[in-house]
Amino acid sequence: DLELHPPEYPWSHAGPLSSLDHASVRRGYQVYKQVCSACHSMEYLAFRNLVGVSHTEAEVKTIAEEVCVCVCVCVCVCVCTSQQEGLSDYFPKPYPNPEAARNANNGALPPDLSYIVNARHGGEDYVFSLLTGYCEPPAGVEVREGLYYNPYFVGQAIGMAPPIYNEVLEYDDGTPASMSQVAKDVCTFLRWAAEPEHDQRKRMGLKMLMGAAIVIPLLYYMKRHRWSVLK
Ligand code: HEM
Repeated sequence: DLELHPPEYPWSHAGPLSSLDHASVRRGYQVYKQVCSACHSMEYLAFRNLVGVSHTEAEVKTIAEEVCVCVCVCVCVCVCTSQQEGLSDYFPKPYPNPEAARNANNGALPPDLSYIVNARHGGEDYVFSLLTGYCEPPAGVEVREGLYYNPYFVGQAIGMAPPIYNEVLEYDDGTPASMSQVAKDVCTFLRWAAEPEHDQRKRMGLKMLMGAAIVIPLLYYMKRHRWSVLK
């Protein structure tokens, strides 16, 4: 196919010893909650998963209690039901089933975002490019009603309207919400969601390297020492 290959962006968590930017994960959750969750579920995430990662336990309790699930049954009917939710609850889904999701989105199915940066080739580079890459179709290219031109999507016509733009939301921490900032934060959040063990994995890797740096020379010395008499 002719879709564009996303460039490699310098993610602050890209290095072999770099941790996730947790302030960015926190903003990214705000983007997910205020923008993406209108259409996309994250069915493998529970509120308690945020505790100690991007939020304190008290904050997550407040978030979980105030969640209001909007169930759009058909395109124009939105039934809003306030629900009491707890720490152990999973993130609420925007639609009760895939049929309802398709009905609300011109037949396109918004995928669950829990593992999206692992599921798509290019990971967060792809999602960042997709979110910021909408543009006018080139001369001569027609896009069917209800689809949007995006050079990074397979087939270049996607059923998701551009979800973010400058100032699409106001960040709680005061960070200016430019389009690229919002895309970066939601991608960092999605990386954490797909790989919650990210930081621990890298810390363990560093420990293994430091351990190996001591053990390997020691073994080498012992081997020489032991075999020296047999020469
Ligand atoms: C598809 C991310 C907001 C509706 C997708 C895909 C991603 C994504 C990664 C998959 C593209 C692929 O298959 O390669 C996001 C993010 C959002 C967001 C990060 C928030 C910043 C929304 C909103 C809606 C929506 C608000 C509905 C109004 C859809 C639909 C598809 C889709 C219908 C399927 C498109 C198709 O297969 O043609 N989104 N999305 N998304 N999204 Fe979103």
